[in-house]
Amino acid sequence: MNPVNVGLLGLGTVGGGTFNVLNRNAEEITRRAGRGILISHAAARAYDPSRLPGIDAISVTDDAFAVVDNPDIDIIVELIGGYEPARELVLKAIANDKHVVTANKALIAMHGNEIFAAAQEKGVMVAFEAAVAGGIPIIKAIREGLAANEIKWLTGIINGTGNFILTEMRDKGRDFADVLSEAQALGYAEADPTFDIEGIDAAHKLTILASIAFGIPLQFDKVYTEGISHITRDDVGYAEEFGHRIKHLGFTRRTEEGIELRVHPTLIPDRRLIANVDGVMNAVLVHADAVGPTLYYGAGAGSEPTASAVVADIIDVVRTLTADPENRVPHLAFQPHALAAVTILGMDDVETAYYLRMQAEDRPGVLAEVTRILGDLGISIEAILQKEPSPGVEEVPVILLSHVVRERHMNAAIRQIEALDSIHGSVTRIRLEHLDCD
Ligand code: HSE
Repeated sequence: MNPVNVGLLGLGTVGGGTFNVLNRNAEEITRRAGRGILISHAAARAYDPSRLPGIDAISVTDDAFAVVDNPDIDIIVELIGGYEPARELVLKAIANDKHVVTANKALIAMHGNEIFAAAQEKGVMVAFEAAVAGGIPIIKAIREGLAANEIKWLTGIINGTGNFILTEMRDKGRDFADVLSEAQALGYAEADPTFDIEGIDAAHKLTILASIAFGIPLQFDKVYTEGISHITRDDVGYAEEFGHRIKHLGFTRRTEEGIELRVHPTLIPDRRLIANVDGVMNAVLVHADAVGPTLYYGAGAGSEPTASAVVADIIDVVRTLTADPENRVPHLAFQPHALAAVTILGMDDVETAYYLRMQAEDRPGVLAEVTRILGDLGISIEAILQKEPSPGVEEVPVILLSHVVRERHMNAAIRQIEALDSIHGSVTRIRLEHLDCD
């Protein structure tokens, strides 16, 4: 049987990895797919041929639209990234009856509803395993492996750059900016590193995970997103004194009132496996009703780990080339007509526990004022820690952990605490999740 022709858009970190993995493992991949898979054309503005053995044998152009319009190509692999022209290229490929594989989380999170509708109409597949958590097959795990379950919540360390920064700050006391430069040099960070630090990259990935977990349309604009740039070495140290670690988590939970969809720094107990996922590694913890908790761990970025997911998607597409479109696995796990219009909760309605840090005057009655405010709002304190004042300084750091409370009440408490004369500056608030699976 003739090989399937693939057009590769992008020969950068992931595109290069995809080219090399497909070539290196060609024999094994053919045995798995049932047909040979040939990258016949590629589009790239610039690339390094010394990293791509065999690249001279294929046609490389700088015109991605020419590849998308080439009638000999069966599958377009979009590894350019970003919103445009990726969206236009993918929609053109679909219009040309081509299947699409993409690693582009921003594209799927923002434009996935439009792209999947177009693909459905044309009867082609759009596969996107590499868009979330790099090499971890989390899309397949949730969409297929956990298909029997009602998913209760899931959480993930889904940005390697942010996790690398928090790990280095904790373990080596390194400076935020210094660690970020290293992540950029290693090729993990996004083209715009604020996407990593401010949680936008994680919000893209969480949007996708929530859709396939709960059968809802993609709603990136509803994700609450908070970054890690305000986390200090002190916060990391105090969290440890309470037996917790600070992780930048994506978190989504189904409640009776709606779905929580949020990305923010989070204290989690250090005994949880996911609290021990360090460096650039990613992990996703899924709590589902039948199977209970399952944890998926692996490399969330990098050339060949991400290529592993891209190539698996290409193999999936090749395996189903002869299958009737109605009988393929649906893009967002649930049948397109069965996606549910469930409310996404605003942050005021989210329920979680909190870590609060404040600078308090070192005199009698100050703690009583703070605890009275919390008590009046029905907020119960789980632990409290007052540090020694530094020599010559009249104020002391006070850190407390609360029980679970509705965010609206905690916001009111923080406003009142910050208004006290005895509290200087603003209150640092980091959310805390116990991740109990009872
Ligand atoms: N910038 C991303 C990360 C790359 O650091 O995880 C993988 O999506």
